[in-house]
Amino acid sequence: MINLTTMDIVIIGSGNVASVLGRKFKAAGHRILQVVSRNASAASKLAYEWDTESTNYISLVNKKADLYLVAVPDDAIPHIVSELKLPAKKILAHTAASVSKDVLKNVSDHYGVFYPLQSLRKEMKALPEVPVFFDGNDEVARKALEKLAHSIAEEKVEAAGDDARMKLHVAAVIVSNFTNHLYALTEDYCKKEGLEFKQLLPLIEETASRIKSMSPKQAQTGPAIRHDKETLQKHIELLKDHPHLKNIYVLLTESIQQLK
Ligand SMILES: NC(=O)c1ccc[n+]([C@@H]2O[C@H](COP(=O)([O-])OP(=O)(O)OC[C@H]3O[C@@H](n4cnc5c(N)ncnc54)[C@H](OP(=O)(O)O)[C@@H]3O)[C@@H](O)[C@H]2O)c1
Repeated sequence: MINLTTMDIVIIGSGNVASVLGRKFKAAGHRILQVVSRNASAASKLAYEWDTESTNYISLVNKKADLYLVAVPDDAIPHIVSELKLPAKKILAHTAASVSKDVLKNVSDHYGVFYPLQSLRKEMKALPEVPVFFDGNDEVARKALEKLAHSIAEEKVEAAGDDARMKLHVAAVIVSNFTNHLYALTEDYCKKEGLEFKQLLPLIEETASRIKSMSPKQAQTGPAIRHDKETLQKHIELLKDHPHLKNIYVLLTESIQQLK
């Protein structure tokens, strides 16, 4: 019988998600029994931080944990789990939004997904707020993963099957990865034009925080939504030396103007 309040956990992977979730599990009172990773130095660093063991051989996985969490890139999950041999009744989960839980079905009776809807980096100094979307093939897996999620995310926990998670992932990629890519392109533009990207930080913060209290559509400002044609023409002219950014500028201007 698993003690759902303090679980014994093995983490497979030693990257961003493994590091941040491991820290959150420790902070919530769970025990990390082992870190398993092909990256021996990253695994032993995490094991030292959590006062536990590590191995880079999946065949040496500790068999005594309650729950095994696979936090490796999406495409590597099938291969890693094909090498994983677990005793009966263990709970196995991966952390990918866009990979079906069924990829784990041949390895354990109780399996599921523990998807943290947050942009996680192992270098993060403070532990971020991490909403969790979980799924499980049966009541045992669902209950354990839900309880684990509540222990690190309090109320920000929801069940989400394969389809719902994939849809959420698309939305997450757009609001986080694409927005950040626009920052990266803009930083590059600033460098080339002798401007300082950091002068834009108050604007970035205000724009992001505004949508906590109003719809992004209502919050839209700028020359595109005002149809300031002359200003738009001047901007496009200025961007002729930055053709890639110019294309994005034109595309997004049209998108803003067409949104009903
Ligand atoms: N980062 C996020 O914000 C985030 C948020 C939610 C969900 N996720 C999901 O969490 C999972 C892990 O993401 P991550 O950001 O933690 O990735 P990551 O930082 O790149 O870490 C991946 C880990 O898996 C290992 N690995 C990579 N390829 C492997 C392979 N072919 N075989 C065995 N081990 C391999 C890496 O070892 P090396 O160091 O040797 O490469 C590393 O330990 C993904 O499924 C991702 O979709 C990520």
